[in-house]
Amino acid sequence: MDIILLKNRAISEIQSAQNLEELEEVFRRYLGKNGEFTQILRSLGGLEQEERIRVGRETNELKNFFIEQVELKRRESHGREFQRQAEGERIDVTAPGKRVVSGHLHPLTLVQRKAVEIFSSMGFVVAEGPEVETEWYNFDALRIPPNHPARDMWDTFWLEEKQKEFEVSSPEFPKTKTPKLLLRTHTSPVQIRYMESHNPPLRIIAPGRIFRYEATDASHEINFYQLEGLMVAKDASAAHFKGVIEEFFRRFFGKLVAVRLRPSYFPFTEPSFEVDMSCLICGGKGCSSCAQAGWVEIMGAGMVHPSVFKAVKYMPRDWRGFAFGMGLDRLAMMKYKIGDIRLLYGGDLRFLQQF
Ligand code: PHE
Repeated sequence: MDIILLKNRAISEIQSAQNLEELEEVFRRYLGKNGEFTQILRSLGGLEQEERIRVGRETNELKNFFIEQVELKRRESHGREFQRQAEGERIDVTAPGKRVVSGHLHPLTLVQRKAVEIFSSMGFVVAEGPEVETEWYNFDALRIPPNHPARDMWDTFWLEEKQKEFEVSSPEFPKTKTPKLLLRTHTSPVQIRYMESHNPPLRIIAPGRIFRYEATDASHEINFYQLEGLMVAKDASAAHFKGVIEEFFRRFFGKLVAVRLRPSYFPFTEPSFEVDMSCLICGGKGCSSCAQAGWVEIMGAGMVHPSVFKAVKYMPRDWRGFAFGMGLDRLAMMKYKIGDIRLLYGGDLRFLQQF
């Protein structure tokens, strides 16, 4: 066995190993249980003493050299393999980016913003009030005393727990005067709050969320959005109101919309009316959305009751005002031809992505 040939063969096999597995394979071929070096060393016993010493030494030297070479190669391959891994992970800054899906405004927000824009251009300023109201602002100041049948029009969420907190945290309120708290059933309390702190003449709108304790169906929800309007001036009239509303609809829907006032009743307005618009879904012919009437009830309205002026310390003889509260959900349903109010609150992306 020519030790030089064996050495050259072993070295070239180490060099041509493509990866760590192949390298292990080479190692086993020479130094495994039946490896070539192992076999030589095992066969030493059958040799003459001199021969045994020489071959033993040479083979051991070769074996050590071989192990060294394998170790070198192993380190080198390791490095290369790490590098290859790192290369696979490198960020390619020229690759096209992932598309960021951006959200958009909810249809109710779109409608509210549009309404605010139109009324603002007519000189109305936006006023706000709390969603948790006192009984006084939501009912009494609007001439809806306890036991008045008009309270039945709005089934109310009363906040007993909140009220207890309020009593504890506000010792200045004697028990007898502690206001009862509720989730506002309409945006009309904002009228009172605003008039208490501002002098007439004035023009305000108050968009916001309101709450009613009622069963839900295609046209009823436990919460929805209203836009309250109030104009107080020396000579404000129902004719002014109709003009403002017709102009609003014309601009909101982008076309002339027929409007009609029907006599109605609200404790805080006199006279009061219900305002209908011609149904845009069927064009006034009658369909399921308007209960075959051809008209859709879109808001309550009326001339501010003198007692309301008295409650906010305005001189009833000097001022006239009109007020209205329109349903923004109804408006959205008419504008986008949505058949069920519950879609607006369901959070279903298939619905929302259409806007
Ligand atoms: N607040 C009344 C409602 O929720 C609507 C309304 C507002 C009526 C202003 C008259 C004046 O039904």
